[in-house]
Amino acid sequence: MDQEKAILVTGGAGFIGSHVVRLLVNKYPHYRIINLDALTYAGNLANLKDVEGKPNYAFEKANICDEDSVNKIFSDYHIEAVIHLAAESHVDRSISNPTGFFMTNIIGTVNLLNAARSHWDENFTGKCFYHISTDEVYGSLGSEGMFTEHTPYDPRSPYSSSKASSDHIVRSYFHTYQLPVKLSNCSNNYGANQFPEKLIPLLINNIRKELPLPIYGEGLNVRDWLWVEDHARAIDVVFHEGKFGETYNIGGVNEWKNIDLVHLLCDLMDEKLGREKGTARKLITFVKDRAGHDMRYAIDASKIESELDWKPSVQFEQGLSSTIDWYLSNQDWIDDVTSGDYKNYYSNQYRNR
Ligand code: NAD
Ligand code: TYD
Repeated sequence: MDQEKAILVTGGAGFIGSHVVRLLVNKYPHYRIINLDALTYAGNLANLKDVEGKPNYAFEKANICDEDSVNKIFSDYHIEAVIHLAAESHVDRSISNPTGFFMTNIIGTVNLLNAARSHWDENFTGKCFYHISTDEVYGSLGSEGMFTEHTPYDPRSPYSSSKASSDHIVRSYFHTYQLPVKLSNCSNNYGANQFPEKLIPLLINNIRKELPLPIYGEGLNVRDWLWVEDHARAIDVVFHEGKFGETYNIGGVNEWKNIDLVHLLCDLMDEKLGREKGTARKLITFVKDRAGHDMRYAIDASKIESELDWKPSVQFEQGLSSTIDWYLSNQDWIDDVTSGDYKNYYSNQYRNR
């Protein structure tokens, strides 16, 4: 691939983005990786301490909703490719405050598409706009079936509807303007550096502090969990080898009912903390269900496996165990992100449940 290609990664200070930035900076020293991130509550430059001094890495604090900043970054760095991860990403926050989701996830994406269109040559040679999305755009499954790339969109939360909108807009720029786009839709990620509003790190943090473990409804909802570094590897593969105009579903082939996952996590935590078996399970507290809570997500990832030779590499128990180890040995990280605003978020989110 091209020498000194300038790749803009948006949302690179977030959970998945930081793993993508790390992979690209280390694997492709001849690429210039520019990380554009607004550093919202979810963005944290501490996630990238190990790459911040590398010569092929640069950080730009900017908001994708700010057209001028986006255009300036495109021209300052001669951006040739975009891997777009910046988003408001938490369903519960989208329920209590939807507008910011539509601004960032829709308008922000439109700004990036427009910047790519206006800064790139008309024939788009060597250019790529890769949009990262979620399986939640496909809606909610019953006990049977899986989402394929042809499953009709049926988003049911402000988060998933904002992501669905952006997916449609990205595809419309391919058909209308021939902008060279690619998309992928992935299942739930887990691993190091995930903000503790999401299920797994929230539980790890609460078990460590012996706080109640809030489980929505009866804990019967099912999610398909993927190790975040496997997702980053899939993004690398789709970016380099995926076809323009195409969508790739990415998943872990790893469905877990929430309550079963919580039991496994509790038992692993007891073991690692040297507590008596059953201690953490006593913290489980069933709380009022999430509004519009999607019952089940399951990804059919056979297209990326057969066409691009990608499949998950980390088995769930192993990934969960090393995720717990990461949080337990990075208590400063978690203490830092849970100080300040997190306390307000947590009490508002869980107060009346
Ligand atoms: P995250 O919330 O951890 O990180 C989002 C990042 O985007 C943060 O660094 C934040 O500062 C930045 N950001 C937010 N608004 C911005 C704005 N207006 N301008 C610039 N930067 C902004 O999210 P994540 O879990 O890492 O998800 C990354 C992407 O992957 C999202 O597009 C999400 O929809 C998608 N995705 C996530 C999952 C998952 O399980 N977490 C699964 C599938 C797809
Ligand atoms: P989450 O990590 O928020 O991801 P998503 O909603 O995008 O799938 O939640 C994963 C599952 O865990 C989902 O079914 C909601 C549930 N959940 C709880 O039961 N309690 C919680 O405190 C949270 C945050 C999630």
